[in-house]
Amino acid sequence: MKVQPPEAVTPFVRHHPSGDERFAVLDKTLEQYDYHPDSLIQVLHMAQSLFGYLSADVLRYVASSLKIPIAQVYGVVSFYHLFTMLPRGKHQIMICRGTACHVRGAPVILERLEEQLGIKEGETTKDNLFSLYSARCIGACSLAPAIAVDEDVYGKLTPDKIPKLCQKELKKYV
Ligand code: FES
Repeated sequence: MKVQPPEAVTPFVRHHPSGDERFAVLDKTLEQYDYHPDSLIQVLHMAQSLFGYLSADVLRYVASSLKIPIAQVYGVVSFYHLFTMLPRGKHQIMICRGTACHVRGAPVILERLEEQLGIKEGETTKDNLFSLYSARCIGACSLAPAIAVDEDVYGKLTPDKIPKLCQKELKKYV
């Protein structure tokens, strides 16, 4: 029997048919983890940072690359709050729904934010500038109720501070 020399073996190479270069970067991450199914969360993190969100196409690609059932990938994405399947705006507004913020009025703060931005929680403004999300705690409990806009925290909020926050403070992100 004739044995092929190692260099004659075709290496395992994947390419997304779109030719989108972001998939080539994602391929590097998959390679780095040796296409191991246990790397699913790390791969999804990279995919979300590359694409901004996890589209059905990206999830299918990750599932087939890691040889994981697509249902399992959807399960992980819907379990972890930080993953999103919807395109996000340029800036993220995160309202805290932790206990300290909740008892100090977070639900009313959320209502006011929704009114001012014209969107519901989980949505993005029409100009794609802001997305509104909630979190269990943003680590600023002493400032409750608090929200974060990207890395900036706004605390000790009251419902009547929200119009000014949206009409003045948020302008600096535009
Ligand atoms: S509970 Fe709101 S910042 Fe911690």
